Amino acid sequence: MPGLETSPAPAMERIQRNIATTFLRERNILDVAAIALRDRSDIRILSFGCSIGDELATLRVLFPQAEIHGCDIDEEALVRARDSVGHLAGVFLSDEAEILRRGPYDLICAFSSLCIHPFRSEEETARIFPFTRFESMIGLFHDCLRDGGILATRNMNYLLADTRHGPAFSTVRSNAIVRSGFVPILRPDGGLIFNALHAPAGPVHFIQDSGTARDAMLADCLFRKRAGADAHIDLNLGALADPEVTHIETAAWQRSNLDTLAPARRMGAVEFVTGFRAFTPREPGGMTYLEQTMRRRSIDRPGKWLEASRAGFHLPALALLPD
Ligand SMILES: C[S@@+](CC[C@H](N)C(=O)[O-])C[C@H]1O[C@@H](n2cnc3c(N)ncnc32)[C@H](O)[C@@H]1O
Repeated sequence: MPGLETSPAPAMERIQRNIATTFLRERNILDVAAIALRDRSDIRILSFGCSIGDELATLRVLFPQAEIHGCDIDEEALVRARDSVGHLAGVFLSDEAEILRRGPYDLICAFSSLCIHPFRSEEETARIFPFTRFESMIGLFHDCLRDGGILATRNMNYLLADTRHGPAFSTVRSNAIVRSGFVPILRPDGGLIFNALHAPAGPVHFIQDSGTARDAMLADCLFRKRAGADAHIDLNLGALADPEVTHIETAAWQRSNLDTLAPARRMGAVEFVTGFRAFTPREPGGMTYLEQTMRRRSIDRPGKWLEASRAGFHLPALALLPD
């Protein structure tokens, strides 16, 4: 596995300023990506915007045999990534030529790097990160993805379908993926389709352009490169809990993402209701797990497919990490 290699000065401009990250952050999306890629061996992965490296550790755990590369534009974050997980992945300064040179990839992760967050105005987002720039990044990913490879995203300010590369991808949908993120979504001309409000208990989306807003825009974030792509692919995950072990429900609760908004502030907001059930194993040796279901309860636009459930919060075998 390569360590840090020096790249030429980046031709690439910074997009997202924030370097926030956590281990196993996009676990659901990556689980579905792993299923989509299960027939492949010798998988090569790019994490675009790997920050301080937690995402590279996540990828190493979920794809133990893969060749993993991670780039970032933030040199301080890269120093931490190199120090902490440089033995798990190749870490390099973000640069188009270098991204291409290390490819082609089976999986490209662009999690929370193709956006401007926190959001101040659509004018500012479109100025710092115009649609043309987004489209050229998608073009770069398209060019260095293998056929059938997966582009896994989260928190993008624009829709992949709006780019000229949209027709080259199929959308991969799953019951394990219910939100594509929490940042506002803009049209190519910079107008808002969905705005996002950060309410006390978390982000809430508002429909800004009722002419173009669609359910799928809030959920689609996993795309497979394939010629003549026109339909979506469903890859639903079953419960992960060990069927051999019977469980006792210890707690169940439900909440809406609008609960912390006053009714007058809920107009046009997209509501998701999440149900939680926690189980503990009846027999020793089983794993405690959490089942989560999420469904859309209200929206003033058509579209009802968005409903997801996910069982079994399992940490993967951390023993896969080297000492
Ligand atoms: C919010 S962090 C997300 C980190 C990680 N992907 C995650 O989801 O946990 C966004 C990262 O994208 C990086 N970034 C911004 N513009 C970039 C560019 N042009 N090339 C590579 N990384 C970039 C930032 O420096 C930052 O570390």
